[in-house]
Amino acid sequence: MDSVYHIPAMLQETIEGLAIKPQGVYVDVTFGGGGHSRAILQRMDSIGDLSFDIGHLYSFDQDKDALQNAIEDERWTFVHSNFRYLRNWMDYYGVEHIDGLLADLGVSFHHFDCPERGFSFRFSAPLDMRMNQTAKRTAADIVNGYSEEELAKIFFLYGELKNGRGIAKNICKARSQKPIERTEDLVAASRIPAEMSKELARLFQALRIEVNDEMGALRDMLVAARDLLKPGGRIAILTYHSLEDRLVKNFLRSGNLEGTIEKDFYGNNLSPFTLIEKGREASAEEVERNPRARSAKLRVAEKK
Ligand SMILES: C[S@@+](CC[C@H](N)C(=O)[O-])C[C@H]1O[C@@H](n2cnc3c(N)ncnc32)[C@H](O)[C@@H]1O
Repeated sequence: MDSVYHIPAMLQETIEGLAIKPQGVYVDVTFGGGGHSRAILQRMDSIGDLSFDIGHLYSFDQDKDALQNAIEDERWTFVHSNFRYLRNWMDYYGVEHIDGLLADLGVSFHHFDCPERGFSFRFSAPLDMRMNQTAKRTAADIVNGYSEEELAKIFFLYGELKNGRGIAKNICKARSQKPIERTEDLVAASRIPAEMSKELARLFQALRIEVNDEMGALRDMLVAARDLLKPGGRIAILTYHSLEDRLVKNFLRSGNLEGTIEKDFYGNNLSPFTLIEKGREASAEEVERNPRARSAKLRVAEKK
C-alpha cells in the first residue's frame, strides 16, 4: 500500500452532516483510501450489537487500486464501478432505498502521486489520466484528437483558464509537428511557463475532467441518489472546483439538473431537499495540516 493513499477532507464535518443512523444503508460513491467509509462504519451498529437489523455500506470506486484499502467487515461491500451506475448496482443488490450517500469528488492523492498515471505535471509520464484503467480514452487521445475549438472549450470550462483559446492554439501548432504523448510534451506545447504551476495544474485538471467525463457521471449519480434517498435521508457532497460545485449547489436547491426551482400555488419551494450545509469550507487549521483540503466545499441536504 502507498504510504499515504489519501487524507480525507473535512472528515468530521462530512460524517456529522450525514447524521448516520446506526442501522441504515449507506453509499460512499468515492471510496479512495477509505477514510470516509471507515468513519461511516464506525458510526453504524456492528454485528455483535443486540439489534436485529444490521446496516450496510456500499463503497464505489472505478479505480481498482482503491481495493488495496479494502475493509474486512461483513457490513461492507466494494463496488468496482463508475458511480454513474449507482441505480443499476443498487437494483442488483436489491436495495430500494438508502439512508445516506457521500461523494468526495475528483481524484485521490494516490492519483497525483503515482507518476505513471499521468495526472501530474510534476512527473514525466505518458498522458493517461484515466481513473478507470480499462477505459478506452486517454488524455493523449483528447490532446491529439480534439479540434482547437473543443480544446479551448474544455480549458475554459473545466480549467477556468482565461487564456484557454491561446493554449489550445499552441497545442494544435505543436501537435502538427509531432504527437503529444507525454506530460512534459503537453507542458512544452501549452507554452505555459514552468513557474506558473497554478495554470499548469488547471490545464491538467481540465483534461482529467474530460477524460473521465466527471461532469456527466456526476449528473447521472445525482439523479439516482435523489430517487434512492428515503425521506430523512442525507446526501453529503465534497466538491473541488467551481463548475461541479455550481452543479451540486443548483441540484440540491432545486432537485433537478436544470436548477429550476419549482413552486406550488402558494409560492412554497417544491424542492425535494432541505439544505443543511451550503458550501462549508475546511478550517484554517485543517488546510494547514492538509493543504489539498483548501478547495473543498461541503454541501449537505436532507430528503423531504
Ligand atoms: C477524493 S477521492 C475520495 C477519497 C475518500 N473519501 C477517502 O476518504 O479516502 C475520490 C475517489 O473517487 C473515485 N472516483 C472519482 N470519480 C468516480 C466515479 N465517477 N465513479 C467511481 N469512482 C470515482 C476516484 O478513483 C478516487 O479514488
